[in-house]
Amino acid sequence: MRTGHQHRATIDRRAGPPHSKTLGVVQENDHGDERLLDKEPRERSEAPRFGSHGRARCPEQGPTAREDERDVLSKVRPLANRAALSKDLWLERRFYKADPDQGFGVHLLHEEPDHSLAIFAVSWLPKRGAPPHDHGTWAVVAGVDGPEKNEFFERSDDRSRPGYAELKKVSEKVFDAGDVLAMHTGQIHSVWNETDAITVSLHIYGKNVQHTGRSQFNIESRTETPFVLKVES
Ligand SMILES: [Fe+2]
Repeated sequence: MRTGHQHRATIDRRAGPPHSKTLGVVQENDHGDERLLDKEPRERSEAPRFGSHGRARCPEQGPTAREDERDVLSKVRPLANRAALSKDLWLERRFYKADPDQGFGVHLLHEEPDHSLAIFAVSWLPKRGAPPHDHGTWAVVAGVDGPEKNEFFERSDDRSRPGYAELKKVSEKVFDAGDVLAMHTGQIHSVWNETDAITVSLHIYGKNVQHTGRSQFNIESRTETPFVLKVES
């Protein structure tokens, strides 16, 4: 459910708390060691685990639901940070595969049977990105490999015309490995890989964005259209 409010992005820079088994953060390696290891991605591994906090229901309208979403984001952000910094435990080579038509590759790591708590690894081709879009749910994005530029927008029209949307850019920020971007339902952003290498980020959503009816926006033509992804098999 979308809301009529826009919220600025909130950011944690490598600020993950000490490992908490009650939060079910990420897997430890065979030695119980959570060090960040700078080595090639594994061929096969298990997806990051986020436990029950991320399975909180998708918020509906109302102040209580908004507070619930803020609480969920505050819990998921540090978990995403730790997962990103522990990439050697889960990142696979195949997650770098990207679709040349789409400009990026979407790899589903996990979702609940009702499509809640969806986790994706997303790879971004050099000099490619995603247009301004929303998610139809809350979103937490953690940089895993390489910097990605995010631009943030607000609607400046009155939303009275279906399919019509005016956007105003309000800020931008580059998110590198370990940086975490948390977005409330309704937040609009774009992503761009300015580098010459494929970048990867970890995306966690309150609901699989293929099932939220979310939108993409064209600033020049002032249009709002469905944003449906091609997901890698
Ligand atoms: Fe997004």
